Amino acid sequence: MKILGISCGRRMGNTEVLVKEALMGAQEMGAEVEIIRLGDLTLRPCTGCNHCLEDMFSKGGAGHCILKKDDFPFIDEKIMDSDGLVLGSPIYEKTPPGLLKTLNDRMGPSHDMGIRIIANQLQEEGKAPKGNGIDPRSFKMRAASLIAVGGSEWDTLALPLMHLFALSMQIEVVDKVLFNWVALPGVVALDEEKLQRARESGRHVARTLAKPIEEAVYIGEPGVCPICHSKLVEVRADDKNYPVICGICGVRGTLDVVDGKVAFAIKDEDRPLSHVLLSGKFAHLDELNNVSLKPPANMDELPAALQKYKKYLPYSRPQG
Ligand SMILES: Cc1cc2nc3c(=O)[nH]c(=O)nc-3n(C[C@H](O)[C@H](O)[C@H](O)COP(=O)(O)O)c2cc1C
Repeated sequence: MKILGISCGRRMGNTEVLVKEALMGAQEMGAEVEIIRLGDLTLRPCTGCNHCLEDMFSKGGAGHCILKKDDFPFIDEKIMDSDGLVLGSPIYEKTPPGLLKTLNDRMGPSHDMGIRIIANQLQEEGKAPKGNGIDPRSFKMRAASLIAVGGSEWDTLALPLMHLFALSMQIEVVDKVLFNWVALPGVVALDEEKLQRARESGRHVARTLAKPIEEAVYIGEPGVCPICHSKLVEVRADDKNYPVICGICGVRGTLDVVDGKVAFAIKDEDRPLSHVLLSGKFAHLDELNNVSLKPPANMDELPAALQKYKKYLPYSRPQG
């Protein structure tokens, strides 16, 4: 069992200490462990070219990214090779640092388990060209723990955005821990309680991987979403049927206060639409095919319509 630690923090900073402590816990349980510092890698941002999708659906490829000269293939291979992850991130401006979002965008559609299942099926059935094919390791059921660390309580978007990294690859998030009020570099190494909690997080990922993934138990922050445990929900005040939507898994429902506690109620028929479930991913792909990816009847007029904007304003760029 291989568990990969990814630290998005400073070299020997608090995140690194906590991720290493979690990896020590995983190692105690028999896991083989490895750590990557995201800051050591060069990652270019996704350009939205959709080459990864074309590669899978039209060229029989594995969904490779066309961007060259960066470390994406390195981290892609490390993630594919892993069985589980410990993802640790400092909080910058209430969110994880942008490099994690850059990685998330690069992994997003290209590594989406639903997309890879459909592409693989089409390739196998001869309905799409078959070349090297989709990496079979894309279909491993992985487990992860998410560890966020901040110098204050400005943390609202940290764990939710970290969870999005796991979502597309269908990684089962079995723990989410937030460590607040830790600011000076590495100082968390003096806080035994936090170190023990991080170690338990790593042990739990290893324990989870020793059993069938269906038996996974979530031990982290309870949150309010009963499906993905997100604490972040969006209130859509003008929607009478579904005034609340989970900020992470997109499931819709209502919020009530029961015995002084906030309760997020979801109808049985809406549960399968959660984006953390494969059924929700397939429903989303259907939605895209039927709505936004369907060309309008006057599609042939598009080149002419775009001329107006092509001719308007040259780009301002730095000189030299
Ligand atoms: C650019 C920047 C923005 C930050 N913003 C926040 C914030 O919004 N909330 C918070 O709790 N801590 C914030 N911090 C503090 C760090 O999260 C904190 O120092 C953390 O321990 C850094 O982890 P590291 O040692 O692993 O790098 C910020 C730090 C930096 C450098």
